[in-house]
Amino acid sequence: MTTLACEYRPGLEGVPVTQSSISFVDGQRGILEYRGIPIEKLAAKSSFLEVAYLLIWGVLPTASELQAFEHEITYHRRVKYRIRDMMKCFPESGHPMDALQASAAALGLFYSRRALDDPAYIRAAVVRLLAKIPTMVAAFQHIRKGNDPVQPRDDQNYAANFLYMLRERVPHSLEARALDVCLTLHAEHTINASTFAAMVTASTLTDPYGVVASAVGTLAGPLHGGANEDVMQMIEQIGAVAQVEPYVEKLLEQKARIPGFGHRVYKVKDPRATILQDLAKELFAEFGADDYYDIAVEIERVVVRHLGHKGIYPNVDFYSGLVYRKLGVPNDLFTPVFAIARVAGWLAHWKEQLNHNRIFRPTQIYIGGHDLAYTDIEERV
Ligand code: ACO
Repeated sequence: MTTLACEYRPGLEGVPVTQSSISFVDGQRGILEYRGIPIEKLAAKSSFLEVAYLLIWGVLPTASELQAFEHEITYHRRVKYRIRDMMKCFPESGHPMDALQASAAALGLFYSRRALDDPAYIRAAVVRLLAKIPTMVAAFQHIRKGNDPVQPRDDQNYAANFLYMLRERVPHSLEARALDVCLTLHAEHTINASTFAAMVTASTLTDPYGVVASAVGTLAGPLHGGANEDVMQMIEQIGAVAQVEPYVEKLLEQKARIPGFGHRVYKVKDPRATILQDLAKELFAEFGADDYYDIAVEIERVVVRHLGHKGIYPNVDFYSGLVYRKLGVPNDLFTPVFAIARVAGWLAHWKEQLNHNRIFRPTQIYIGGHDLAYTDIEERV
Protein backbone atom coordinates (compact mmCIF):
# COMPACT_ATOMS: atom_id res chain seq x y z
CA MET A 1 0.00 0.00 0.00
CA THR A 2 1.29 3.46 -0.87
CA THR A 3 1.47 6.09 1.83
CA LEU A 4 -0.21 9.31 0.71
CA ALA A 5 1.21 12.63 1.77
CA CYS A 6 -1.70 14.28 3.53
CA GLU A 7 -2.51 17.49 5.23
CA TYR A 8 -4.46 17.61 8.50
CA ARG A 9 -7.92 19.09 7.89
CA PRO A 10 -9.80 19.58 11.21
CA GLY A 11 -13.31 18.21 10.89
CA LEU A 12 -12.22 16.58 7.59
CA GLU A 13 -13.40 19.80 5.96
CA GLY A 14 -13.49 19.34 2.20
CA VAL A 15 -11.97 15.85 2.35
CA PRO A 16 -13.93 13.36 0.19
CA VAL A 17 -14.68 10.21 2.22
CA THR A 18 -16.74 8.34 -0.36
CA GLN A 19 -18.09 8.31 -3.90
CA SER A 20 -21.85 8.68 -3.78
CA SER A 21 -24.78 9.14 -6.13
CA ILE A 22 -27.36 9.82 -3.41
CA SER A 23 -27.43 13.61 -3.15
CA PHE A 24 -25.66 16.69 -4.42
CA VAL A 25 -25.20 20.13 -2.89
CA ASP A 26 -23.85 23.28 -4.52
CA GLY A 27 -23.38 25.61 -1.58
CA GLN A 28 -22.47 28.62 -3.70
CA ARG A 29 -25.57 28.42 -5.90
CA GLY A 30 -27.96 27.05 -3.25
CA ILE A 31 -28.71 23.80 -5.08
CA LEU A 32 -29.73 20.51 -3.43
CA GLU A 33 -30.63 17.43 -5.47
CA TYR A 34 -31.62 13.92 -4.39
CA ARG A 35 -30.51 11.35 -6.98
CA GLY A 36 -30.12 14.26 -9.42
CA ILE A 37 -33.64 15.66 -8.92
CA PRO A 38 -33.91 19.23 -7.53
CA ILE A 39 -35.31 19.36 -4.00
CA GLU A 40 -37.91 21.96 -5.03
CA LYS A 41 -39.52 19.48 -7.48
CA LEU A 42 -39.55 16.65 -4.94
CA ALA A 43 -41.00 18.88 -2.20
CA ALA A 44 -43.76 20.03 -4.56
CA LYS A 45 -44.65 16.70 -6.18
CA SER A 46 -43.53 13.68 -4.15
CA SER A 47 -44.44 12.28 -0.76
CA PHE A 48 -41.75 11.61 1.84
CA LEU A 49 -42.02 7.83 1.39
CA GLU A 50 -41.60 8.24 -2.37
CA VAL A 51 -38.48 10.30 -1.66
CA ALA A 52 -37.20 7.71 0.83
CA TYR A 53 -37.62 5.02 -1.84
CA LEU A 54 -35.79 7.22 -4.36
CA LEU A 55 -32.90 7.82 -1.96
CA ILE A 56 -32.54 4.21 -0.89
CA TRP A 57 -33.14 2.38 -4.20
CA GLY A 58 -31.95 5.12 -6.55
CA VAL A 59 -35.10 5.49 -8.69
CA LEU A 60 -38.56 6.94 -8.20
CA PRO A 61 -41.02 4.10 -7.51
CA THR A 62 -43.81 3.29 -9.93
CA ALA A 63 -47.32 3.75 -8.55
CA SER A 64 -47.60 0.05 -7.68
CA GLU A 65 -44.10 -0.07 -6.13
CA LEU A 66 -44.97 2.95 -3.99
CA GLN A 67 -48.27 1.45 -2.94
CA ALA A 68 -46.56 -1.80 -1.90
CA PHE A 69 -43.87 0.13 0.02
CA GLU A 70 -46.45 2.28 1.82
CA HIS A 71 -48.48 -0.80 2.64
CA GLU A 72 -45.47 -2.60 4.18
CA ILE A 73 -44.58 0.46 6.22
CA THR A 74 -48.14 0.87 7.49
CA TYR A 75 -48.15 -2.80 8.50
CA HIS A 76 -44.91 -2.47 10.51
CA ARG A 77 -45.72 0.75 12.41
CA ARG A 78 -46.46 -0.91 15.73
CA VAL A 79 -43.59 -1.54 18.14
CA LYS A 80 -43.25 -4.54 20.42
CA TYR A 81 -44.72 -4.15 23.88
CA ARG A 82 -41.29 -4.91 25.34
CA ILE A 83 -39.88 -1.82 23.60
CA ARG A 84 -42.77 0.24 24.98
CA ASP A 85 -42.12 -1.23 28.46
CA MET A 86 -38.43 -0.43 28.14
CA MET A 87 -39.34 3.18 27.26
CA LYS A 88 -41.51 3.37 30.37
CA CYS A 89 -38.32 2.87 32.41
CA PHE A 90 -36.64 5.91 30.84
CA PRO A 91 -36.56 9.00 33.07
CA GLU A 92 -39.31 11.41 32.01
CA SER A 93 -36.80 14.26 32.20
CA GLY A 94 -34.55 12.56 29.63
CA HIS A 95 -34.18 14.18 26.22
CA PRO A 96 -36.32 12.54 23.53
CA MET A 97 -33.24 12.18 21.29
CA ASP A 98 -31.59 10.02 23.95
CA ALA A 99 -34.80 8.00 24.25
CA LEU A 100 -34.84 7.58 20.48
CA GLN A 101 -31.21 6.54 20.31
CA ALA A 102 -31.75 3.87 22.97
CA SER A 103 -34.99 2.66 21.36
CA ALA A 104 -33.48 2.48 17.86
CA ALA A 105 -30.57 0.44 19.22
CA ALA A 106 -33.02 -1.81 21.09
CA LEU A 107 -34.76 -2.73 17.81
CA GLY A 108 -31.56 -4.55 16.93
CA LEU A 109 -32.18 -6.95 19.81
CA PHE A 110 -35.32 -8.17 18.05
CA TYR A 111 -34.42 -8.05 14.38
CA SER A 112 -30.64 -8.25 14.01
CA ARG A 113 -29.49 -11.09 11.80
CA ARG A 114 -26.92 -9.14 9.83
CA ALA A 115 -27.76 -10.87 6.55
CA LEU A 116 -26.29 -7.88 4.81
CA ASP A 117 -25.97 -9.60 1.44
CA ASP A 118 -29.68 -10.48 1.35
CA PRO A 119 -31.85 -7.83 -0.40
CA ALA A 120 -34.90 -9.09 1.54
CA TYR A 121 -33.09 -8.39 4.86
CA ILE A 122 -32.12 -4.92 3.63
CA ARG A 123 -35.71 -4.15 2.60
CA ALA A 124 -37.14 -5.47 5.86
CA ALA A 125 -34.70 -3.35 7.90
CA VAL A 126 -35.52 -0.25 5.82
CA VAL A 127 -39.25 -0.83 6.27
CA ARG A 128 -38.99 -1.49 10.01
CA LEU A 129 -36.84 1.54 10.72
CA LEU A 130 -38.93 3.93 8.63
CA ALA A 131 -42.11 2.49 10.11
CA LYS A 132 -41.16 2.27 13.79
CA ILE A 133 -39.03 5.37 14.42
CA PRO A 134 -42.06 7.76 14.26
CA THR A 135 -44.02 5.43 16.54
CA MET A 136 -41.19 5.44 19.09
CA VAL A 137 -40.85 9.24 18.98
CA ALA A 138 -44.59 9.71 19.56
CA ALA A 139 -44.66 6.96 22.22
CA PHE A 140 -41.99 8.62 24.37
CA GLN A 141 -43.92 11.89 24.28
CA HIS A 142 -46.92 10.18 25.94
CA ILE A 143 -44.89 7.89 28.19
CA ARG A 144 -42.93 10.76 29.71
CA LYS A 145 -46.22 12.38 30.70
CA GLY A 146 -47.32 9.18 32.39
CA ASN A 147 -49.76 8.18 29.63
CA ASP A 148 -50.00 5.17 27.36
CA PRO A 149 -48.76 5.63 23.79
CA VAL A 150 -51.35 6.21 21.07
CA GLN A 151 -51.56 3.32 18.62
CA PRO A 152 -50.88 4.08 14.93
CA ARG A 153 -53.84 4.49 12.55
CA ASP A 154 -53.64 2.49 9.35
CA ASP A 155 -56.04 4.81 7.51
CA GLN A 156 -53.64 7.75 7.89
CA ASN A 157 -50.61 8.37 5.66
CA TYR A 158 -47.09 8.50 7.06
CA ALA A 159 -47.03 12.16 8.13
CA ALA A 160 -50.69 12.29 9.17
CA ASN A 161 -50.28 9.17 11.29
CA PHE A 162 -47.30 10.66 13.13
CA LEU A 163 -49.25 13.81 13.94
CA TYR A 164 -52.21 11.68 14.97
CA MET A 165 -50.05 9.55 17.33
CA LEU A 166 -48.48 12.69 18.78
CA ARG A 167 -51.61 14.80 19.29
CA GLU A 168 -54.36 12.18 19.39
CA ARG A 169 -56.40 13.89 16.70
CA VAL A 170 -56.49 13.47 12.95
CA PRO A 171 -54.63 16.44 11.44
CA HIS A 172 -55.89 18.96 8.90
CA SER A 173 -54.68 18.03 5.40
CA LEU A 174 -52.47 21.16 5.28
CA GLU A 175 -50.78 20.11 8.53
CA ALA A 176 -50.11 16.61 7.19
CA ARG A 177 -48.77 18.00 3.92
CA ALA A 178 -46.57 20.53 5.75
CA LEU A 179 -45.02 17.79 7.87
CA ASP A 180 -44.57 15.56 4.83
CA VAL A 181 -42.69 18.37 3.02
CA CYS A 182 -40.53 18.95 6.13
CA LEU A 183 -39.63 15.25 6.14
CA THR A 184 -38.69 15.40 2.45
CA LEU A 185 -36.49 18.46 3.02
CA HIS A 186 -34.67 16.83 5.96
CA ALA A 187 -34.32 13.37 4.41
CA GLU A 188 -30.77 13.65 3.10
CA HIS A 189 -27.86 16.05 2.89
CA THR A 190 -24.64 14.44 1.63
CA ILE A 191 -21.88 13.70 4.16
CA ASN A 192 -22.94 15.66 7.22
CA ALA A 193 -21.82 14.58 10.71
CA SER A 194 -24.65 12.10 11.42
CA THR A 195 -24.46 10.54 7.96
CA PHE A 196 -20.72 10.15 8.33
CA ALA A 197 -21.30 8.52 11.73
CA ALA A 198 -23.78 6.16 10.02
CA MET A 199 -21.25 5.33 7.32
CA VAL A 200 -18.43 4.68 9.79
CA THR A 201 -20.72 2.41 11.82
CA ALA A 202 -22.01 0.69 8.66
CA SER A 203 -18.45 0.05 7.50
CA THR A 204 -17.95 -2.36 10.40
CA LEU A 205 -20.83 -4.45 8.96
CA THR A 206 -22.83 -4.11 12.15
CA ASP A 207 -26.64 -4.19 11.98
CA PRO A 208 -28.68 -1.28 10.57
CA TYR A 209 -30.31 -0.59 13.96
CA GLY A 210 -26.86 0.12 15.39
CA VAL A 211 -26.11 2.29 12.34
CA VAL A 212 -29.24 4.39 12.91
CA ALA A 213 -28.67 4.58 16.69
CA SER A 214 -25.16 5.89 16.09
CA ALA A 215 -26.47 8.51 13.65
CA VAL A 216 -29.26 9.58 16.04
CA GLY A 217 -26.67 10.17 18.79
CA THR A 218 -24.66 12.33 16.40
CA LEU A 219 -27.64 14.32 15.13
CA ALA A 220 -28.54 15.26 18.71
CA GLY A 221 -25.79 17.87 19.14
CA PRO A 222 -26.54 21.62 18.97
CA LEU A 223 -24.14 22.17 16.06
CA HIS A 224 -26.15 19.73 13.98
CA GLY A 225 -29.83 18.78 14.35
CA GLY A 226 -30.24 20.39 17.76
CA ALA A 227 -30.10 23.94 16.38
CA ASN A 228 -33.82 24.27 15.54
CA GLU A 229 -34.67 23.86 19.22
CA ASP A 230 -32.27 26.72 20.00
CA VAL A 231 -33.85 28.84 17.26
CA MET A 232 -37.31 28.51 18.80
CA GLN A 233 -35.95 29.34 22.25
CA MET A 234 -34.31 32.45 20.80
CA ILE A 235 -37.57 33.55 19.11
CA GLU A 236 -39.49 32.97 22.37
CA GLN A 237 -36.91 34.96 24.35
CA ILE A 238 -37.02 37.86 21.88
CA GLY A 239 -40.82 37.95 22.07
CA ALA A 240 -41.44 41.03 19.88
CA VAL A 241 -40.23 42.32 16.52
CA ALA A 242 -38.91 45.54 18.07
CA GLN A 243 -36.60 43.53 20.34
CA VAL A 244 -34.88 41.69 17.49
CA GLU A 245 -32.24 44.24 16.59
CA PRO A 246 -30.89 44.84 20.14
CA TYR A 247 -31.02 41.10 20.92
CA VAL A 248 -29.12 40.06 17.80
CA GLU A 249 -26.61 42.87 18.12
CA LYS A 250 -25.87 41.85 21.71
CA LEU A 251 -25.25 38.27 20.59
CA LEU A 252 -22.95 39.51 17.84
CA GLU A 253 -21.04 41.72 20.29
CA GLN A 254 -20.54 38.65 22.48
CA LYS A 255 -19.32 36.79 19.37
CA ALA A 256 -22.01 34.18 20.01
CA ARG A 257 -23.33 31.91 17.26
CA ILE A 258 -26.84 32.74 16.13
CA PRO A 259 -28.70 29.44 15.95
CA GLY A 260 -30.16 28.56 12.56
CA PHE A 261 -27.56 30.56 10.65
CA GLY A 262 -24.43 29.51 8.81
CA HIS A 263 -23.55 26.26 7.17
CA ARG A 264 -20.33 24.46 6.36
CA VAL A 265 -21.47 24.06 2.75
CA TYR A 266 -24.05 26.76 1.92
CA LYS A 267 -22.74 30.27 1.54
CA VAL A 268 -26.14 31.53 0.36
CA LYS A 269 -29.61 30.91 1.83
CA ASP A 270 -30.18 27.18 2.21
CA PRO A 271 -32.77 26.18 -0.46
CA ARG A 272 -34.60 24.17 2.22
CA ALA A 273 -34.94 27.30 4.36
CA THR A 274 -36.66 29.07 1.45
CA ILE A 275 -39.24 26.25 1.07
CA LEU A 276 -39.73 26.03 4.85
CA GLN A 277 -40.25 29.77 5.10
CA ASP A 278 -43.07 29.53 2.52
CA LEU A 279 -44.58 26.62 4.46
CA ALA A 280 -44.39 28.54 7.74
CA LYS A 281 -46.08 31.52 6.09
CA GLU A 282 -48.88 29.27 4.74
CA LEU A 283 -49.44 27.63 8.14
CA PHE A 284 -49.45 30.95 9.99
CA ALA A 285 -51.99 32.34 7.46
CA GLU A 286 -54.28 29.29 7.78
CA PHE A 287 -54.09 28.65 11.51
CA GLY A 288 -53.80 32.14 12.92
CA ALA A 289 -50.75 34.30 13.26
CA ASP A 290 -48.71 35.21 16.28
CA ASP A 291 -45.59 37.37 16.16
CA TYR A 292 -43.20 34.47 15.79
CA TYR A 293 -43.11 34.37 11.99
CA ASP A 294 -42.50 38.15 11.83
CA ILE A 295 -39.81 37.90 14.51
CA ALA A 296 -38.06 35.21 12.47
CA VAL A 297 -38.16 37.30 9.28
CA GLU A 298 -36.72 40.27 11.20
CA ILE A 299 -33.95 38.10 12.70
CA GLU A 300 -33.04 36.99 9.18
CA ARG A 301 -32.93 40.62 7.99
CA VAL A 302 -30.70 41.77 10.87
CA VAL A 303 -28.34 38.77 10.82
CA VAL A 304 -27.90 38.88 7.04
CA ARG A 305 -27.21 42.62 7.21
CA HIS A 306 -24.39 41.95 9.69
CA LEU A 307 -23.07 38.59 8.50
CA GLY A 308 -24.22 38.14 4.90
CA HIS A 309 -20.76 39.21 3.67
CA LYS A 310 -19.33 36.13 5.46
CA GLY A 311 -21.82 33.83 3.71
CA ILE A 312 -23.96 33.49 6.85
CA TYR A 313 -27.62 32.96 5.89
CA PRO A 314 -30.51 30.93 7.34
CA ASN A 315 -29.94 27.18 7.27
CA VAL A 316 -32.59 24.43 7.28
CA ASP A 317 -33.03 24.72 11.04
CA PHE A 318 -34.07 28.36 11.04
CA TYR A 319 -37.65 28.09 9.76
CA SER A 320 -38.28 24.41 10.55
CA GLY A 321 -38.90 25.14 14.24
CA LEU A 322 -41.64 27.62 13.33
CA VAL A 323 -43.35 25.02 11.15
CA TYR A 324 -43.10 22.35 13.85
CA ARG A 325 -44.44 24.74 16.45
CA LYS A 326 -47.47 25.50 14.31
CA LEU A 327 -47.99 21.73 13.97
CA GLY A 328 -48.04 21.39 17.76
CA VAL A 329 -44.69 19.60 17.99
CA PRO A 330 -42.99 20.39 21.34
CA ASN A 331 -39.60 22.10 21.05
CA ASP A 332 -37.60 19.14 22.28
CA LEU A 333 -39.19 16.90 19.63
CA PHE A 334 -37.90 19.02 16.76
CA THR A 335 -34.69 17.04 16.46
CA PRO A 336 -36.44 13.65 16.77
CA VAL A 337 -38.71 14.76 13.89
CA PHE A 338 -35.55 15.64 11.94
CA ALA A 339 -34.32 12.11 12.75
CA ILE A 340 -37.55 10.55 11.46
CA ALA A 341 -36.78 12.16 8.11
CA ARG A 342 -33.04 11.59 8.07
CA VAL A 343 -33.44 7.85 8.64
CA ALA A 344 -34.09 7.73 4.87
CA GLY A 345 -30.72 9.33 4.07
CA TRP A 346 -28.84 7.27 6.66
CA LEU A 347 -30.28 4.06 5.24
CA ALA A 348 -29.45 5.13 1.68
CA HIS A 349 -25.82 5.66 2.77
CA TRP A 350 -25.82 2.39 4.73
CA LYS A 351 -26.92 0.52 1.60
CA GLU A 352 -24.44 2.38 -0.61
CA GLN A 353 -21.63 1.74 1.89
CA LEU A 354 -22.35 -2.00 1.77
CA ASN A 355 -21.98 -1.93 -2.02
CA HIS A 356 -18.34 -0.80 -1.84
CA ASN A 357 -17.42 -1.39 1.77
CA ARG A 358 -14.03 -0.78 3.25
CA ILE A 359 -13.87 -0.26 7.00
CA PHE A 360 -13.12 3.36 7.91
CA ARG A 361 -9.71 3.61 9.47
CA PRO A 362 -8.31 7.13 9.15
CA THR A 363 -4.98 8.07 10.57
CA GLN A 364 -3.68 10.78 12.92
CA ILE A 365 -0.71 13.03 13.31
CA TYR A 366 0.74 12.05 16.65
CA ILE A 367 1.84 15.09 18.67
CA GLY A 368 2.66 13.43 22.01
CA GLY A 369 6.04 12.42 23.44
CA HIS A 370 8.01 9.17 23.05
CA ASP A 371 9.79 6.82 25.38
CA LEU A 372 8.96 8.99 28.42
CA ALA A 373 10.03 8.13 31.97
CA TYR A 374 7.43 6.20 34.02
CA THR A 375 6.71 7.76 37.46
CA ASP A 376 5.56 5.39 40.18
CA ILE A 377 2.22 6.40 41.73
CA GLU A 378 3.62 7.34 45.12
CA GLU A 379 6.11 9.71 43.48
CA ARG A 380 3.58 11.56 41.32
CA VAL A 381 2.76 15.14 42.27
N1 ACO B 1 -23.67 33.08 14.04
C1 ACO B 1 -22.70 34.02 14.03
N2 ACO B 1 -21.53 33.84 13.36
C2 ACO B 1 -21.37 32.71 12.69
C3 ACO B 1 -22.36 31.69 12.67
C4 ACO B 1 -23.55 31.94 13.37
N3 ACO B 1 -24.53 31.05 13.39
N4 ACO B 1 -21.91 30.67 11.94
C5 ACO B 1 -20.69 30.98 11.52
N5 ACO B 1 -20.36 32.22 11.97
C6 ACO B 1 -19.12 32.96 11.71
C7 ACO B 1 -17.99 32.42 12.56
O1 ACO B 1 -17.90 33.08 13.80
C8 ACO B 1 -16.80 32.68 11.66
O2 ACO B 1 -16.47 34.04 11.76
P1 ACO B 1 -14.91 34.49 11.69
O3 ACO B 1 -14.43 34.02 10.35
O4 ACO B 1 -14.97 35.97 11.84
O5 ACO B 1 -14.23 33.79 12.82
C9 ACO B 1 -17.36 32.46 10.26
O6 ACO B 1 -18.76 32.72 10.36
C10 ACO B 1 -17.13 31.06 9.74
O7 ACO B 1 -17.54 30.15 10.73
P2 ACO B 1 -17.05 28.65 10.83
O8 ACO B 1 -17.08 28.25 12.26
O9 ACO B 1 -15.78 28.46 10.08
O10 ACO B 1 -18.18 27.92 10.04
P3 ACO B 1 -18.39 26.37 10.07
O11 ACO B 1 -18.58 25.96 8.67
O12 ACO B 1 -17.36 25.65 10.85
O13 ACO B 1 -19.73 26.25 10.93
C11 ACO B 1 -21.89 25.77 11.63
C12 ACO B 1 -20.93 25.78 10.44
C13 ACO B 1 -21.35 24.82 12.72
C14 ACO B 1 -23.24 25.25 11.15
C15 ACO B 1 -22.00 27.21 12.19
O14 ACO B 1 -22.46 28.06 11.17
C16 ACO B 1 -22.88 27.30 13.42
O15 ACO B 1 -22.42 27.06 14.53
N6 ACO B 1 -24.19 27.68 13.23
C17 ACO B 1 -25.13 27.76 14.33
C18 ACO B 1 -25.68 26.39 14.68
C19 ACO B 1 -26.60 25.86 13.60
O16 ACO B 1 -27.48 26.56 13.09
N7 ACO B 1 -26.41 24.58 13.24
C20 ACO B 1 -27.27 23.89 12.26
C21 ACO B 1 -26.50 23.64 10.98
S1 ACO B 1 -27.51 22.92 9.76
C22 ACO B 1 -27.58 21.31 10.25
O17 ACO B 1 -26.72 20.73 10.83
C23 ACO B 1 -28.82 20.58 9.88
